[in-house]
Amino acid sequence: MYSEKVMDHFSNPRNVGEIENASGVGTVGNAKCGDIMRIYLDIDENHVIRDCKFKTFGCGAAVATSSMATELVKGKTIEEAMQVTNRAVMEALDGLPPVKVHCSLLAEEAIHAALWDYAQKNHLVIKGLEKPKEDIHEDERREED
Ligand code: FES
Repeated sequence: MYSEKVMDHFSNPRNVGEIENASGVGTVGNAKCGDIMRIYLDIDENHVIRDCKFKTFGCGAAVATSSMATELVKGKTIEEAMQVTNRAVMEALDGLPPVKVHCSLLAEEAIHAALWDYAQKNHLVIKGLEKPKEDIHEDERREED
């Protein structure tokens, strides 16, 4: 059911933890399943993501996608990090079962929320970045309606 890469990132998640005095922190949840993800970004003066850590109170797919997402955004500029969508994360993990696709949205939204926090603190506008939602379930519900 799960790819080897998903199992690997679930069993040995990369970049778990917190960053003290992070440049940006983003937390999002999904009220439907109760899972929560927090992403910390350390961004240098050239807007390059030097480090990224996460904490997830969530299912195995949420852990694996957060782990892969942190790996993908490290070393990227904030503009490049905007391209790290949940699809990109899923592709990097060789896919997720359809019922678990929503879990990968937590990772994308948490990165966006952390970038938003960074942009707010530094009075920046990041192209394509919108104010994050605290509960991504609201969106899913809209899609279901
Ligand atoms: Fe909630 Fe996976 S079931 S994030």
